[in-house]
Amino acid sequence: MGQTLTEKILDDHLVEGELEPGEEIGIEIDQVLTQDTTGTMVWLQFEALDLDEVQTELAAQYCDHQTYQFDFKNTDDHRFLRSAAGTFGAHFSRPGNGICHQVHKENFAAPGKTLLGSDSHTPTPGGMGELAIGAGGLDIAVAMGGGPYYVEMPEVTNVRLEGELPEWATAKDVILEMLRRLSVKGGVGKVFEYTGPGVETLSVPERTTITNMGTELGATSSLFPTDEKTEEFLEAVGREDEYVELQPDDDAEYAEEVTIDLSELEPLIAKPSMPDNVVPVREVAGEPVDQVMIGSCTNGAYEDILPGAKMLEGREVAKRTEMIIAPGSKQASEMLAREGWTAELMAAGVNFSEATCGACIGIGHVPASDSVSLRTFNRNFEGRSGIEDDSVYLCSPEVATAAAIKGEIVDPRDLADELGDLEDPGFEMPDQYTGSTADLISPDEAIDDELIKGPNIGDVPLKDALDPHLEGSVLLKMTDNITTDHIIPATSDILKFRSNVPKLSEFTLSRVDESFAQRALDADGGFLLAGENYGQGSSREHAALCPMYLGVEGVLAQSFARIHKANLFNFGLVPLTIDEETYEKIEQGDDVEIVDDVGEGVREGKEEFTVRVNDDWEATARLDASERERKILAAGGKLSYTRQQYDES
Ligand code: F3S
Repeated sequence: MGQTLTEKILDDHLVEGELEPGEEIGIEIDQVLTQDTTGTMVWLQFEALDLDEVQTELAAQYCDHQTYQFDFKNTDDHRFLRSAAGTFGAHFSRPGNGICHQVHKENFAAPGKTLLGSDSHTPTPGGMGELAIGAGGLDIAVAMGGGPYYVEMPEVTNVRLEGELPEWATAKDVILEMLRRLSVKGGVGKVFEYTGPGVETLSVPERTTITNMGTELGATSSLFPTDEKTEEFLEAVGREDEYVELQPDDDAEYAEEVTIDLSELEPLIAKPSMPDNVVPVREVAGEPVDQVMIGSCTNGAYEDILPGAKMLEGREVAKRTEMIIAPGSKQASEMLAREGWTAELMAAGVNFSEATCGACIGIGHVPASDSVSLRTFNRNFEGRSGIEDDSVYLCSPEVATAAAIKGEIVDPRDLADELGDLEDPGFEMPDQYTGSTADLISPDEAIDDELIKGPNIGDVPLKDALDPHLEGSVLLKMTDNITTDHIIPATSDILKFRSNVPKLSEFTLSRVDESFAQRALDADGGFLLAGENYGQGSSREHAALCPMYLGVEGVLAQSFARIHKANLFNFGLVPLTIDEETYEKIEQGDDVEIVDDVGEGVREGKEEFTVRVNDDWEATARLDASERERKILAAGGKLSYTRQQYDES
């Protein structure tokens, strides 16, 4: 039987296990990336593991999420990250140089390689045939030390693309259509592999918009084959020698198939406040728009900004609307400036931000209360923009620019009819990407050879080995789809404590219940209770680390998001799955006791545990964990487990 492309790349990198969906496999990692919010912990953990040199082919440390140096804490973090990259042998991308996925795509991503990144949108270079997976920071530290990365072998879904995009429909609409059909849970445990005649109609930057936002489907990764378009892109970034032809076998078998006829797509938009709340733009036309933002790792490339620039040539942004462009990389900024587009856009009333994630996580350009913001980003979770009652819509750069021109949501086809002289700018990739790489410091150019830690940089907390008897109260009952933004918000006032776990922990779940952190500390143990898809969103390991620091022992949920579940194991918190009836019946404040000896059960492969509630009634909770994950739990987390492994070898 033939292989899918996913299977081929995994097979090439397999060090443990078999390629059977649902089975845990260990794979060799070629490249790693990390960013500033997750990176400080990655390097502190790398140090705590007594590792002294990066072992992967390539490692890159980006500073992109919190680049504004409001006070010394961020600047200290950036300096620490530079010193860690220099000391241990990673590339360092300075703050303002751009968003990790965009800069990585421009400089390092390569077909056929594996990439592990401590950011949930790591799958972005799947659009050029790299199998890229997001993971927690501790997994990155271990992989950088040369250890395999363990993941459940995903099911591979064939997304067959037919036809060609019509006027005003874009790659963003392809992924919004996927979200409309499959929802934010539709990709859990899957890789989406794109095939069919429609593939060759899309350039690499269009493909990477799709693979980037595959993360919003909950997918392990998304992948395109390589072809002339991949070669063209690699030539344009000056790395044509890295091209490798990669295709699935003709007789590859897929677990399921989804077909999208590109020619039937129209401009789509995700309404507040979930990326799968997708409707045709025409359905929400007429809504006044206060803010428009183009940028992020989904649509912040040079060729994502160009269509808006062309649409705005000779026009102005509506007086009621503010339009901001945050380029995905400094290279994109530099190219736009050199070609004169920056001046044109400024003349049209557009403001420019430095190349940063910034507003995507509520750092800068926070919308006014009770206002509408249209963004080309990938997430619109409630409050992520920096204000609780936000109203963020997600759309293509073309739809965003049309709204900026009209001052209200409008289908660009209708705006074109109305204006008479507005043409679809189309998608244009440059023959050659130009721009300085002055902000990228290679290991050979490193300026530090020892770690520089400021006063805000603490130690990595450790947990004791798993307690055989787990008992405590339900500290908080939560709904479905709780995101890592709910658990540890990424806004600037909170994020600056990312290297200081005791301080950061004070904000744990504060967006759900302000008194949570103190109650958890006072209770000295206990459980979290949640509905479906607990921990969706980012790879932020602080969302497991901080509850662990506060004494939380385990999470009872109807289901877990993949990366967050791995992070729970990594920090020694027991993730137990319960059914809907049990979830409904348990209330916040109830006393929960795991009747069985948890330590023994975890070690011996027990899958079902009896949960006694209020000493009154019982239910069953499942522990779905591999043998390795059980050992990690028993040791009190991956740091202790990995140290034990090193001691034994
Ligand atoms: Fe940054 Fe937002 Fe992407 S935080 S990495 S631009 S999802």
